[in-house]
Amino acid sequence: MPVSFVLRVSNLNRGFGSGIARLEVLQGIDMEIQPGELVALMGPSGCGKSTLLNIIGGLLEADSGSISLTEFNYGIAHPKKLVDLRRRGVGWIFQDFHLLNHLSALDNVALALELSGLESSTAEEEARTALERVGLSDRVSFKPDELSGGQRQRVAIARAIAGSRPLVLADEPTGNLDIKSGEDILELFKELCHGEDAISILMVTHDPVLASKADRMLLLRDGKVAASSIKEAWGGQA
Ligand SMILES: Nc1ncnc2c1ncn2[C@@H]1O[C@H](COP(=O)(O)OP(=O)(O)O)[C@@H](O)[C@H]1O
Ligand SMILES: [Mg+2]
Repeated sequence: MPVSFVLRVSNLNRGFGSGIARLEVLQGIDMEIQPGELVALMGPSGCGKSTLLNIIGGLLEADSGSISLTEFNYGIAHPKKLVDLRRRGVGWIFQDFHLLNHLSALDNVALALELSGLESSTAEEEARTALERVGLSDRVSFKPDELSGGQRQRVAIARAIAGSRPLVLADEPTGNLDIKSGEDILELFKELCHGEDAISILMVTHDPVLASKADRMLLLRDGKVAASSIKEAWGGQA
């Protein structure tokens, strides 16, 4: 059976600064994600996890290397040219939700779709569907400050998956949540990856318990992806 990948990263390199202050952050990253996979990315603070996500998400260019995400091929292409990738290729989820406080849950999701070019009645329809998928059908008209932390993160997840983007990038999505809400978000990620209309999720986390619930774990260390299984990461034999 041919193996298909939603994302393939090949020999990606990225550093910052010049001369003696030069810092090589990513030094030959190779990784692949299959459709429907939930992948946890771990590694010490400052090792380049956000840098890697930013390049995959088309917000930052690499120094060398390449990325394929469905029909998009990029990496060293200037991010300004990647408008379509950012609109249709990837959805983002951040630790601090990044919701607009004066807008309802529905409008937060719909606005993002309208900005990506959808006509408003279609945007609203797709926003409702996305909010339903994250279990918030009964909260669509609530504003962020009327929702719990876990519910706010669900709105952000609805916004990321709305418009059928194949890959969601989640940078420490449970960092601001209590343990129970964090576990609930992980369960939701699993449903979204393993259910109908499966998406793939690449999630940065510092929590080994949450990471162990993903389909696979990658450890970023010394600029490379050092392990692809929990066992290897913890020093055992795979
Ligand atoms: N725009 C930038 N300019 C200079 N250095 C940067 C920039 N972005 C990140 N870095 C440096 O790159 C390294 C990796 O950062 P980051 O990707 O945010 O790490 P992580 O998300 O794993 O904590 C850090 O040392 C950080 O200071
Ligand atoms: Mg980071």
